[in-house]
Amino acid sequence: MQKITHLTIRKQKQEKKPITMITAYDVLMAKNVDEAGIDMILVGDSLGNVVMGYDSTLPVTLDDMIHHTACVVRGTKHALVVGDLPFMSYQESPLQALRSAGRMMKEARCDAVKFEGGQHVCDAVYKITQSGIPVVGHLGLTPQSVHQLGGFRVQGKDEKTAQTLLDDALALEAAGAFAIVLECVPTTVATTITNTLTTAATIGIGAGNGCDGQVLVCTDLLGMTTGFRPSFVKPYADLHHVITTAVQAYIHDVTERTFPDDEHSFT
Ligand code: KIV
Repeated sequence: MQKITHLTIRKQKQEKKPITMITAYDVLMAKNVDEAGIDMILVGDSLGNVVMGYDSTLPVTLDDMIHHTACVVRGTKHALVVGDLPFMSYQESPLQALRSAGRMMKEARCDAVKFEGGQHVCDAVYKITQSGIPVVGHLGLTPQSVHQLGGFRVQGKDEKTAQTLLDDALALEAAGAFAIVLECVPTTVATTITNTLTTAATIGIGAGNGCDGQVLVCTDLLGMTTGFRPSFVKPYADLHHVITTAVQAYIHDVTERTFPDDEHSFT
């Protein structure tokens, strides 16, 4: 299988071939999802919630993201790997954004970077793409702005905010973004954005089935997360059950001294 690049993703949009994306944070998950044939792997700053145990993405640092993105890159042969720029690693200025994107590409060796925001980050998107780094945008529910948004809620529900989302998407496309994540946006709004953009592919999460592609957090998709699960998540497995059942069986065998048996011991 050939390595996927941003050109492949742009072609998939033109050919209306759905784009598949999933998050991963380490080499093991990267190998599994890459071998399954996924198009894009996002090393999202959801790392903060999923792997690091924070209650938001805000504490995640650029060093954290580079470390985990490098792990994913080492486990990936085929998929396009996108490294997320964390909170306060690009908001200061287009130059700061370029430096952070540059570190991500040089140290983690991923294929593209992603960061949140619309028209106000377009100077940064332009500067980064002009420097030869492919960029993915992120609109709608942008978790790094959770305090400003007043919580994790659906965005673009009225005409004015829906229009702003469309304007932001068009601005990101004009600045050079090859894809845009649309998170928690009504289906009609996401579909309109998708049909209006001519070159940038939309990747939806909680944005209905009119987008050019879809993304889910790997642990949500695999049913590894306990507790709150967003309504847009469809678990395709129940790994939490598989893992706890297996570990309980191991505890039982060790406690009963039936493991290790002769087959699993050296004579
Ligand atoms: O950080 C992340 O995992 C993301 C996805 C939810 C799109 O941005």
